[in-house]
Amino acid sequence: MKKLILILLGCLAFACENIIPEPPAVDEILDGPIDGLNSSEQARFLAGDFAFNDEVFSSGTGLGPTFVATSCGSCHAGDGKGHPFTTLTRFGQTAPNTPPNLLIGGPQLQNRAIPGYTPEILPEGTPFMKLTPPAVTGLGLLSALTDEQILTNADPYDLDGDGISGVPNYVNPPAYFVPKWFHQDANGRYMGRFGKKAATIDLLQQTVSAYNQDMGITSTFEPVDPFSGLEVDPEVSDQTVRDVVFYLRTLKAPIQRSQNDQQIIQGKTLFSQIQCGDCHTPEWTTPTSDIVALSNKTFFSLYRPVVA
Ligand code: HEC
Ligand code: HEC
Repeated sequence: MKKLILILLGCLAFACENIIPEPPAVDEILDGPIDGLNSSEQARFLAGDFAFNDEVFSSGTGLGPTFVATSCGSCHAGDGKGHPFTTLTRFGQTAPNTPPNLLIGGPQLQNRAIPGYTPEILPEGTPFMKLTPPAVTGLGLLSALTDEQILTNADPYDLDGDGISGVPNYVNPPAYFVPKWFHQDANGRYMGRFGKKAATIDLLQQTVSAYNQDMGITSTFEPVDPFSGLEVDPEVSDQTVRDVVFYLRTLKAPIQRSQNDQQIIQGKTLFSQIQCGDCHTPEWTTPTSDIVALSNKTFFSLYRPVVA
């Protein structure tokens, strides 16, 4: 507080505009709610925003013992994309038909550990991939779409002959999954729409797995600690998990910058001409949603295919 007073006093003596930076323009900020939330929805958005961006876990609050990062926001900084220092490593089998190496706790490398524990190291020769965190903005609009809407783009055998097939990814649901209008395949799996390779069905699954796999934080949804393989008491409350999901559902879609720039307009035309838009569906409209502000909204998703 003292510092702030000093700066403000300084302002009186010198020209203020040189000391206090201009607030960023609205199209520069990702961390804001969609328009039209009522006051209780705004309060939930803020609770989720705090849990996502400001709640940093430590060994005292359940972190690890092995982990990748200490908060959601440390990888998804400002709700935007990550960079080469915030990647996740997922690994596969060392040989065909062998189970993943259970000694190192499943498909994700936990490359850091709290004091007294050893971080995981990938055995020589294990196939792996590094994934960069994507932006988490505008996902509520995508989650408001019905499976039927998305499946209108599926064309697994390219029957329309445009060279683009459109194959949905079906996933086995976690035990806590509650189907709404979700569509199942013949094997009882549900269509994935979040995460790389559309590996999770909904934002609850993505959030619960991130707490568990990225930070070693258990919940009533996913009570098994990835390090010990044992069930432990929840380290994050159901309320916080649900607030984070609500936050992700109500985080606004980014506002496109320089919409009148000629080069950008030209690029957009080219994007459809060379068929990028056949997968990156340019425009969707949501049906009615339990969050009124998400109902009947048209959004532009050039950057985000679900079916490919
Ligand atoms: C170690 C870095 C890291 C941490 C910590 C992390 N994430 Fe992620 N997140 C990623 C990466 C990498 C991906 C993409 C790969 C994947 O599908 O998991 C991702 C994907 C996502 C997606 C899917 C986005 C989309 O476009 O489909 C959501 C939502 C998300 N994270 C939310 C969270 C939440 C909520 C937390 C905290 C509970 C969290 N993340 C913590 C790295 C991280
Ligand atoms: C056959 C379908 C398909 C076509 C055609 C296609 N994409 Fe993609 N694109 C995808 C999928 C699927 C992903 C996401 C991969 C994932 O998350 O695992 C993606 C991801 C991307 C990303 C990364 C987005 C991010 O947030 O990290 C960019 C950029 C991109 N595509 C640009 C293009 C451009 C430009 C074209 C045209 C030249 C194009 N794509 C054509 C399916 C397609």
